[in-house]
Amino acid sequence: MKAQSLIIVVLSVALLFAVIKIVTSKATTVAGNAADAVISNIMTRTSIRSFTDESLTGEQIETLLKAGMAAPSAVNKQPWKFIVVKNREFLKRIADTLPNTRLTTAACAIVVCGDMTKTLDGVARDFWIHDCSAATENILLAAHAMGVGAVWAGIFPNPDRVSQLRGLIDIPESLIPLCVVALGHPAENPEPKDKWNPENYMVID
Ligand SMILES: Cc1cc2nc3c(=O)[nH]c(=O)nc-3n(C[C@H](O)[C@H](O)[C@H](O)COP(=O)(O)O)c2cc1C
Repeated sequence: MKAQSLIIVVLSVALLFAVIKIVTSKATTVAGNAADAVISNIMTRTSIRSFTDESLTGEQIETLLKAGMAAPSAVNKQPWKFIVVKNREFLKRIADTLPNTRLTTAACAIVVCGDMTKTLDGVARDFWIHDCSAATENILLAAHAMGVGAVWAGIFPNPDRVSQLRGLIDIPESLIPLCVVALGHPAENPEPKDKWNPENYMVID
């Protein structure tokens, strides 16, 4: 009887270890696959400048905005405002005046603005540019993951582009437009560029 109990205890412990091993190895695989998917999304993103006439859903636009707002920002100030332009007439006007924005066929645009009422003070003020750039990249990566095409078009610090854009859409004085993200369903399929260049990094051991 004693020997039987001992065998049961040993087998139970062995079973417990086996279950723990299976569960943890599964967790590692899921995490590994998720990491692969994220890295692959980063490596395969490429600028899309030509779009079909299919529009984006409200849900898709909200996901893109959530991705933008999930970006890191200095002291978590979140000094940004996202202006979504869906109106075709406005998109055309911006495209005509600022052809670099690639809005001719875009379904919509997100104008990423720095909100000067939320910046840090003094020399840290310009961290808004980092913050809004991080938000913009998040939008591009989220778009790519969703099969939506996107391109980042620079506005600030070009003063002409900033004032031209201000003349086209109603941007409050407290906001500075950093860039326009053109969005839509891709009508082109360019190869992602291989930018890996070992000369572009250094290691300090
Ligand atoms: C700050 C910034 C400004 C950019 N401005 C423009 C632009 O005005 N028009 C445009 O077509 N692409 C613009 N781009 C997109 C770049 O041309 C593009 O990212 C670059 O050629 C690399 O290609 P990839 O995005 O396909 O990797 C800009 C990108 C950045 C980061």
